[in-house]
Amino acid sequence: MKRRSFLSQSGLVTAGLAILPSGLLRAGQSANDKLNIALIGAWGRATAHHGWLKEQSVVALCDVNEANLKLAAAVFPKAKTFFDWRQALDHPDLDAVVICTADHHHAFISNEALHRNLHVYCEKPLAISVDQARVLRSHWLTKKGKLATQVGTQMHAQENYARVKELILDGAIGELQSAIAWGNRQLRRTGYEPAGEPAPPGIHWDLWLGPSPEHPYSPKYFSGDPGANCLQWNMYADWGSGQIGDMGSHFMDLLYSVTDATLPTKISAKGEAPNPEVQPVDLETHFDHPANDWRGPIRISWYQGALKPRLPLDFIDLEILGHGALFKGTQGFIIADYSKRILIPMGKDADMSAYKPRTKERQLPAIGAFHENWLAACKDPSKSTCCDFEYHANLCEQQQLGLVAYRAGKDLKYDGKAGTVTNAPEANELLKRKYRDGWELKA
Ligand SMILES: NC(=O)c1ccc[n+]([C@@H]2O[C@H](COP(=O)([O-])OP(=O)(O)OC[C@H]3O[C@@H](n4cnc5c(N)ncnc54)[C@H](O)[C@@H]3O)[C@@H](O)[C@H]2O)c1
Repeated sequence: MKRRSFLSQSGLVTAGLAILPSGLLRAGQSANDKLNIALIGAWGRATAHHGWLKEQSVVALCDVNEANLKLAAAVFPKAKTFFDWRQALDHPDLDAVVICTADHHHAFISNEALHRNLHVYCEKPLAISVDQARVLRSHWLTKKGKLATQVGTQMHAQENYARVKELILDGAIGELQSAIAWGNRQLRRTGYEPAGEPAPPGIHWDLWLGPSPEHPYSPKYFSGDPGANCLQWNMYADWGSGQIGDMGSHFMDLLYSVTDATLPTKISAKGEAPNPEVQPVDLETHFDHPANDWRGPIRISWYQGALKPRLPLDFIDLEILGHGALFKGTQGFIIADYSKRILIPMGKDADMSAYKPRTKERQLPAIGAFHENWLAACKDPSKSTCCDFEYHANLCEQQQLGLVAYRAGKDLKYDGKAGTVTNAPEANELLKRKYRDGWELKA
């Protein structure tokens, strides 16, 4: 029985409601049903998802690069193909969308998918402005419980995240004071590439630009290895957030998941001289977070490029760890990456007497495979996912506020409820992006 006719016969489709929330849709189906998925941005990073997508039903493929679309169509021969994601979302049988495009489309595609009551898996980062993060979060909160969303920070499912959190909750470093992450990648760009040859016929440059202001095509933006081509465009200000949005999405996810952080109240940043066309290589930014129900107020920090946090221990060299996280407490430190952790008791009271390690039975439950976490929620949206659009939009909003403080050149006070900078009105201008005519982001 066709999904639509099943819905109408079971009385779940009512007049005037074109597409029902998939939560209802799933309720009448067995757990073995496959989701009808549109894969948007079908090559590059998407190939990391092809394996599990083959076990679902990919009915639509979209890519602005015809060569990549052809490669993906060979993997999913039954799917209809599109160059424009707005047309792909018009496919009548969709349940869900997986988004692996360039970053400046993420919020737009995700928002449109939510408007169509589709489940969404979106590669990180979800947003490239404070405004985008806020629109997506508020839109998602109106659909929570009926749909499933997940942002592609797959390291979140590593057990180490839970083990680090348990060490802190169980008192191994005393009272938590700060959480710091860093990334040493240095991809210096000076400005958009100059105009040269127009895009070749197989590359739909205008669709690639989408909401972005106009810039001339350059083959350099398409010259990276599959799955790492994002490094060819994500340093440009209209298309990405540089390293704070790229690796920062993974390592600040470790900080957020451990500290249960939401939105900062104060932000400061410093780095190299700002260039409006590109994101900085060297940047250091700090965020003050209020207390929550299990810890006091903390400071979260991000360092990138040549800048790194310092430890008051000269026999531990953080330079060796290209990307990492550091949790500082009143009685010691934890240094961690995705899969490893080092506990360093330190300070005059660091005798470990306050540390009460939990039994195996009380350990935080494993998340399991990251994509399965999303698929399970697509089938039963009353289940939550570990990186939904509320959790990740908070993290994204913080990242973007770091860039706003950097460009404003001022320490900022932030009212997260209202979404406004309260001490520097000019910084509020930087919370939102300007889009090309015809593009608007509305929840
Ligand atoms: N989670 C991770 O660990 C991880 C790793 C790598 C990349 N990523 C993310 O995945 C995304 C893609 O990265 P990539 O390196 O594959 O980039 P990419 O430039 O290779 O783009 C991926 C594919 O999407 C297509 N595409 C781009 N914009 C499109 C649009 N508007 N509509 C349709 N197709 C479009 C491209 O032609 C390409 O085939 C980025 O957002 C990046 O941050 C995540």
